[in-house]
Amino acid sequence: MPMEELLEKLEERIKKVEAGGGEARVAKQREQGKKTARERIELLLDPGSFQELDAFVSHRCTLFGMDKIEAPGEGVVTGVGTVEGRPVAVYAQDFTVLGGSLGEMHAQKICKVMDLAMKLGMPIIGLNDSGGARIQEGVDALSGYGHIFYRNTLASGVVPQIAAIMGPCAGGAVYSPALMDFIFMVQGSSEMFITGPQVIKAVTGEEVSAQQLGGALTHNQISGVAHFAAASEEECLASIRTLLGYLPSNNMEDPPIVDTGDDPGREEAALLEIVPEDPNKAYDMREVVIRTVDAGSFFEVQPLYAPNIITAFARLNGRVIGIIANQPAFMAGCLDINCSEKAARFIRFCDAFNIPLVNYVDVPGFLPGTNQEYGGIIRHGAKMLHAYAEATVPKITLIVRKAYGGAYLAMCSRDLGADLVYAWPCAEIAVMGPEGAANIIFRKEIEASFDPKKAREEKIAEYRRFFANPYVAAQRGYIDAVIDPRLTRRYLVQALELTATKRETRPAKKHSNIPL
Ligand code: HXC
Repeated sequence: MPMEELLEKLEERIKKVEAGGGEARVAKQREQGKKTARERIELLLDPGSFQELDAFVSHRCTLFGMDKIEAPGEGVVTGVGTVEGRPVAVYAQDFTVLGGSLGEMHAQKICKVMDLAMKLGMPIIGLNDSGGARIQEGVDALSGYGHIFYRNTLASGVVPQIAAIMGPCAGGAVYSPALMDFIFMVQGSSEMFITGPQVIKAVTGEEVSAQQLGGALTHNQISGVAHFAAASEEECLASIRTLLGYLPSNNMEDPPIVDTGDDPGREEAALLEIVPEDPNKAYDMREVVIRTVDAGSFFEVQPLYAPNIITAFARLNGRVIGIIANQPAFMAGCLDINCSEKAARFIRFCDAFNIPLVNYVDVPGFLPGTNQEYGGIIRHGAKMLHAYAEATVPKITLIVRKAYGGAYLAMCSRDLGADLVYAWPCAEIAVMGPEGAANIIFRKEIEASFDPKKAREEKIAEYRRFFANPYVAAQRGYIDAVIDPRLTRRYLVQALELTATKRETRPAKKHSNIPL
């Protein structure tokens, strides 16, 4: 056959694959406010950079009429492309083909791009929109998931893995995104659950809508499964691009340094006004963080979950940092189960991918209560201690105000391996707040006095005079410098540049046993 004809045939085949499940199903997809797999890839990647792989792969199932069913592209579009010029591996499930269901060959396509990403050291981005295991393929479909989970685990800590949920994601299928580093969800059109509303109704009698059960807000606010809730698919894909800008392509690289144009020595007089004089008054720690990092570089992770701690990526003089900051505006910034898990996982991600940690501390302690104790705050809080202590990336701690008790340690004190520790003059570093401390250590004296109220106040003041400042800790060398808040940015930039060459070796072991 002449080349011209061969090319025509090739073109025909490509067109067929690109048409996915056909016009009617594409129209149904659009009615639901969803884009096609290919449109999503176009929005995610740099224009014209996508190179598709395995377009002609097809299933081998002959059961339940499958021998007569063609599944263009096997219900998943896979390939490589670039984001801001940096290579990424991508797969996008195509709901218009057999509901994006995952069979043996669909899974093999995903596994192939994952293997390529691991070999070449590029992030993996999975756009999920699927009815789950392809029912006709039975155990072959389950095995396909197994292969993906196995690779997700091998890739963990080697290349960044990002999942976007852009439609249904049900049953065991949720575990691939769950094994990845970040989950994006689209409000209104994405759902994740192990068992859906019908099964729940049949088993427990409970009635719940799919959105209530596993929608974007449920997983961003309540369960903590997801990290980002986008208002639209466009916003979701644009946010993935932004996130990638803060990440290295793999664990052997450093994150990209960019010129943000912000003066590294910029002084911020406004920082003097943010923390109230009354130590019991709240303020928004974001204001402190945003004023110290490079302008426009603050990118918060899990902003809707456990807001008593802030986790975010940002830049300092162009270098990427991971921020962990107590948030006094929510629950006084106490550490609880949810925020400990949120922070620990973020710390471990940063450590795995060479992102220095900058910790902003204002923490009155761990949240008291039976809920917390019965829920295992001991083992969950231990995750933060473990994550900070095992992290070998540069660790810089700034004590803004309170740093009490175990929470002082859990926020990366010097003893947990902080390389540089700074404190503002309003910092208070003690075993607990002056009120609680006076009640315990001066209890007998207060009870025996003629005026217990006055005696109590005097003892509180005495304790406050001694510990409610940064100087006792500075005398012992737990703090490297007490700094003028206006100069915070300059100190942090210098600390980051100083610690850029940090090398720390640890005892050889298979892996640590973080409390789970
Ligand atoms: C094969 C499937 C399918 C599946 C959907 N389809 N899910 N085909 N296997 N799992 C097909 C439908 O037959 C239909 O084909 C097309 O996809 C679109 O589906 P609709 O039902 O018309 O779409 P919609 O009304 O939007 O409903 C979407 C849905 C529903 C809620 C996802 O399709 C659904 O409930 N599917 C089954 C979900 C499920 O139970 N999956 C197994 C989960 S367990 P036509 O030809 O009509 O267009 C699991 C185990 C993983 O995944 C274990 C890993 C360890």
